[in-house]
Amino acid sequence: MKFFVDTADLAEIRDLADTGLLDGVTTNPSLVAKAGRNFVELIAEICDVVEGPVSAEVAATDFDTMLKEGRYLAQIAPNVAVKVPLTPAGLKVCRTLANEGTMVNVTLCFSAAQAILAAKAGAAFISPFVGRLDDIGQNGLNLIQEIVEIYSNYSAFTTEVLVASVRNPIHVVESARMGAHVATMPPSVIRQLGNHVLTDKGLATFVSDWAKTGQSILDQPLPKRG
Ligand code: E4P
Repeated sequence: MKFFVDTADLAEIRDLADTGLLDGVTTNPSLVAKAGRNFVELIAEICDVVEGPVSAEVAATDFDTMLKEGRYLAQIAPNVAVKVPLTPAGLKVCRTLANEGTMVNVTLCFSAAQAILAAKAGAAFISPFVGRLDDIGQNGLNLIQEIVEIYSNYSAFTTEVLVASVRNPIHVVESARMGAHVATMPPSVIRQLGNHVLTDKGLATFVSDWAKTGQSILDQPLPKRG
């Protein structure tokens, strides 16, 4: 499973990229507003830090302007994935940009029927929002299961399932069990993935027991072998 970070905070992106665990970035207009930066400049800087896909969302909602914005954003760097909303106009833009060789991430997906349309429109990624479905009392993970199953029935569907609106490690683990290709997560969830109280407790014991030995690994000469 690929890990994308869902943020427009460049410092966070740099920090996570340094771990070697980051495969891409997703942004959206709300995250960009929060970052308070010039959008095009910010996307260019993110693309310099991360080699994988960097989603940059169009702002317009009509076909002509969305297409112009998409083509413009695609020129920032080869790893830009243009993000379009799952609307009739967005799907038409998706098909046009995909035919031109641009990666498209179709966002705001809340049903399997919508995900089928995105695959037919040639999307590189479909973004089903699990957390927002959970928020209204529906099971977001059921949607991931449905989409993964449907896509696997058709070899012509090359669209990757990008699990979005992830709120906790359970969303990530369950999506991985279902075979979703990508999870995009806020930085806090990526960090939470590695936490376990028994890891902390076990390490504290090993550190204190090691101290009792009075040894230092790097002070010990390597034995000659053979
Ligand atoms: C995905 O690309 C979206 O940016 C994001 O996952 C939305 O998450 P939210 O529902 O927490 O805002």
